[in-house]
Amino acid sequence: MHTVTVNASKKYDVRIGTGFIDRLGEEIAPLMSGKKIMLVSDDKVFPLYGERAIKSLEEAGYTVTVFTFPNGEDSKNIKNYTDLVEALFEAQLTRKDLVIAIGGGVVTDLAGFAAATFQRGVGLVMLPTTLLAAVDASVGGKNGINLTHGKNQVGTFYQPSLVLCDIETLWSLPREEYTNGCAEVIKYAMIVNDGLFDLIRETDIKDQYEEIITRCITIKKDYVEADEFDTGKRMMLNFGHTIGHAVEACSGYTIPHGRAVAIGMAAITKAAVVNGYCTEDTRMQLDELLEQYDLLDDLKYKAEDLMECVKVDKKNSAGMLRIVIPKGIGSCWIKEIYKEECLKWIVLGGAR
Ligand code: GLY
Repeated sequence: MHTVTVNASKKYDVRIGTGFIDRLGEEIAPLMSGKKIMLVSDDKVFPLYGERAIKSLEEAGYTVTVFTFPNGEDSKNIKNYTDLVEALFEAQLTRKDLVIAIGGGVVTDLAGFAAATFQRGVGLVMLPTTLLAAVDASVGGKNGINLTHGKNQVGTFYQPSLVLCDIETLWSLPREEYTNGCAEVIKYAMIVNDGLFDLIRETDIKDQYEEIITRCITIKKDYVEADEFDTGKRMMLNFGHTIGHAVEACSGYTIPHGRAVAIGMAAITKAAVVNGYCTEDTRMQLDELLEQYDLLDDLKYKAEDLMECVKVDKKNSAGMLRIVIPKGIGSCWIKEIYKEECLKWIVLGGAR
């Protein structure tokens, strides 16, 4: 087992290993003085791990209430949020008690937002069951829900009390879900030069989950500790995301987040080569790695359509936006540009 401690406004451990589902009761015991737990999950994940988690929690003496909703991004909505906080109220959870999220990013985001806002903050434990949630969504405190026309438009920064990455839950991931998470791993390999790029080029991510997740969390921890509220350095974690978010939106959210980020990373790197910020060799190495993980896709949308989505991205401020540009493998920088300039980058990135 590996432990990474995040020292943000709250200090907490991220544990990466196996057996956490069956040890859940003992893992959470030091975190709470209450006896009630709200277990939040979705209808795909709960049947896989719910019973084991409840058994462990009940054996440790906790009273467990379960809240589940349909799997998928559509569930990250205001209705499920209000239903969840009403359920917390009905279960009489207090600030001494705990919300435990078991699932992918939709579950951790929704549960995180409910935990952050119910009674102005109750304890929160994340047990991510997708690679993407393990390396990104469950760590760093971002949570939220979607509005009808905007992703993550409502949410807070609220750090969990503990994150348990049980890699056993990743062994049975569907192919597309695995691929989706690999994109975020490749993102980390592009922004920090710690050998991660070579490691995942030489050995498949799924054959070294514990090592890879630990490295990704260690990288993320540095950015979160330096800039918890995402006003500067943390934006580096958005490599590939400006165009990626636009791709997601243009596809009507049929292209999943990770795959869209992969398209965004390839596009911004292609444009960076043309603009003289990095070499063709860097672009080729990135494309080869994306190809290796079945993530190399064209930017098939019209530049103007992508640009419309960039314009409403919540990361814009006062007509400016920050894009993350690669200098080489394991090295990126943040450039502030006028919103309109982004069109040029999108075109150079290969949009129609
Ligand atoms: N997902 C990027 C961040 O947590 O800042």
